[in-house]
Amino acid sequence: MAYELGIIGAGKIGEALAAGVVSRGLIPKDRILLSVRSERHRAELEARLGIRAVTEDGLVARECDNLILAVKPKDVAEAMAGISGSLGPAKLLVSTAAGVSLGMLEAAAPAGTPIIRTMPNMAVAIGQGMTALSPGRAVTSSRLEWATSVFRACGRALVVGEEDMDAVTGLSGSGPAYIYIVIESLADGGVKLGLSRDVATELAAQTVLGAAANVLLTGEHPAKLKDQVTTPAGVTIDGILELEEGRLRVTLIKAVVKAAERARQLMHRPR
Ligand SMILES: NC(=O)c1ccc[n+]([C@@H]2O[C@H](COP(=O)([O-])OP(=O)(O)OC[C@H]3O[C@@H](n4cnc5c(N)ncnc54)[C@H](OP(=O)(O)O)[C@@H]3O)[C@@H](O)[C@H]2O)c1
Repeated sequence: MAYELGIIGAGKIGEALAAGVVSRGLIPKDRILLSVRSERHRAELEARLGIRAVTEDGLVARECDNLILAVKPKDVAEAMAGISGSLGPAKLLVSTAAGVSLGMLEAAAPAGTPIIRTMPNMAVAIGQGMTALSPGRAVTSSRLEWATSVFRACGRALVVGEEDMDAVTGLSGSGPAYIYIVIESLADGGVKLGLSRDVATELAAQTVLGAAANVLLTGEHPAKLKDQVTTPAGVTIDGILELEEGRLRVTLIKAVVKAAERARQLMHRPR
């Protein structure tokens, strides 16, 4: 086959994945084929990325060894109807559609099609994404490794059972929005104390980035890292006392649980 990777629905997520694998040298541009629905978007995409883009999903499905389906959940059924004739055991299908289960995808594809359901987040667009992958029954370890490497080109990736996908959605899928609010609020604190908005936002964002990097790089429990920066009778413990009184912990826990519940509901009514 002519192409290693076909991305059906190369919108925000699909375009980020294409750009990621190319910039990491994982797959050359001439081994990738993209599809979108509108001619205007197709032309823009081709000009921006220098990767061939078409408006025929069937062509992508026929010509590519591995497919990423990155259309909106409401468009999955239509896209699957257009490509299912080319699917089968020899072709990997990776879906990024939120709330569309492996069962739904498998029911729309020929028996034995290897299918992987994923949940990336928008940070794939800047190479700092977090993606969870759940393989279906027909997926071999080498195919799963290939798919994982594609998402690792755009950040971190790990494999979970499909039963954990709602939790992943509530945490890393929706999480960027929670953290933007945390950053905005920390910056508001700085502004309240007289810092300019720009300075306060840079201080807040880099503080979140540094703390997150420390957790990932050291592998230490966050509580231990918190203790390391909390001097007895010092300044930070006063700030922590305010956070505890404001129930920050329980609020964040409930945000993740609520979003996961919503993801579970939508799973039965994908939009
Ligand atoms: N954005 C996120 O944070 C995020 C996070 C996790 C998962 N996801 C999932 O990732 C998927 C993509 O999200 P997105 O934000 O990247 O959406 P998006 O920007 O709207 O991209 C979807 C693209 O699909 C194209 N499309 C629609 N129907 C098509 C068809 N039948 N054949 C080919 N292309 C078609 C559209 O093309 P036109 O522009 O030409 O109409 C559009 O560019 C969704 O299923 C979403 O649930 C997104």
